[in-house]
Amino acid sequence: MCGYYNLKGRDLLTLEDYTEEDINVILETTRYMKSRFYSGERIIPVLNGRTVALVFEKHSTRTRVSFEVAAHQLGAQSLYLGWEQLQLGRGETIADTARVLSRYVDVIVARVKEHSKLEEFAKYADIPVINGLSDLAHPVQALSDMFTILEKKGRLKGIKLVFVGDGSDNVLHSLLLAGSRLGMHLVISSPPQLRPNDRILNNAKKAAELSNATIEFIDDPFKAVEGADVVYTDVWVSMGQEALREERVKLLRPYQVNSKLMERAGNRAIFMHCLPAKRGEEVTDEVIDGPQSVVWDQAENRLHTQKALLSLLVP
Ligand code: CP
Ligand code: NVA
Repeated sequence: MCGYYNLKGRDLLTLEDYTEEDINVILETTRYMKSRFYSGERIIPVLNGRTVALVFEKHSTRTRVSFEVAAHQLGAQSLYLGWEQLQLGRGETIADTARVLSRYVDVIVARVKEHSKLEEFAKYADIPVINGLSDLAHPVQALSDMFTILEKKGRLKGIKLVFVGDGSDNVLHSLLLAGSRLGMHLVISSPPQLRPNDRILNNAKKAAELSNATIEFIDDPFKAVEGADVVYTDVWVSMGQEALREERVKLLRPYQVNSKLMERAGNRAIFMHCLPAKRGEEVTDEVIDGPQSVVWDQAENRLHTQKALLSLLVP
C-alpha cells in the first residue's frame, strides 16, 4: 500500500485539495480491500478500538450503511448521530459539537444541508472530517465511482464520461474534481440554466491542465453521448430542492437517460447512477435494469472505497 501514511489526519471535504497521487493511493487501497473481502477476509482490524461518528442531517441508505459496515470490518465502532437527536438540533453550535466529538471519537463523517456546515466542523474538530454529502459535493461517491470505472474499463485516462442532467449537481461536482485529476474526458450535457458551481469548475479546469483532462459542455444529450464510455446521471431534484420540483422536471425532461439515448451512446457505454434513482424521471427502468447498467456494482464499491478511506485517513 504505497503512500499509506501521507493521508493520515486529512479532511475530505470536496477533493479540491487532493492530488492525482492521493486519489491513486485511495484507488489502490480500495482494490486491496475488495480483493481481501473476496478472498474471505472481511475483517481487517487496522482501526481496532477506534470510533467513527456519522452526523447526518439528511436521509441516507448507501452512505450510512456502507460507512457503518466499513467501520465494523476495520475493527472500529460506528455511532449514527441524527442531527435532530443531538443538541445540534436544539441550537448547540457546530463548533462546540466538533470540539466535544473530537474528545470521544476518531473521525466524523457528516452529511449536511449546507456545505459551510462541514467547513465549520472541519475548522473546530481535531480529527478528520469526511463529507458524506453536502449541497456542494459528494466526494466519497466520486472516488468510489472512479474505482468502478477503473474496474469496468481498465483505465481512467482518456475515458469519456458524459454526465446527463442537472449540471449543478453535487455528485457531478465531485466527478469533475476527481476526473479532472485523472485525465478523463468529461462531458456535461445539461440545460444552460444548470451549470456547475464556478469555484468547482475553475478548480477542475486547473487540474485538467496538469493531467490533460478535458471538460466540455454539449447541451444536446444525443450529441453528447456519442462515443461515451460512461453515461452518468443523477436525480433532477436533489435533497433540499423539493420546492423546485415542477420547474426542474420541465427543464430536464429532454435529458432523460432512456434506451434511445443509450442506443446513441452505443454498446461500449456503461450506465452509472449514484442512487437513489427516481425511475421514470432521469432514467427509465429499461436502462437502469438493462445490460449496460452497473449501478449495483457501483453501490457495492462504496463499501470497499470507504474501508480504504477510513484506513488511510484515520490516524
Ligand atoms: N449515493 C448515496 O450517497 O446514497 P444515499 O443517499 O442512500 O447515502
Ligand atoms: N444529488 C443527490 C445525490 C444523492 C446521493 C442529492 O443530493 O439528493
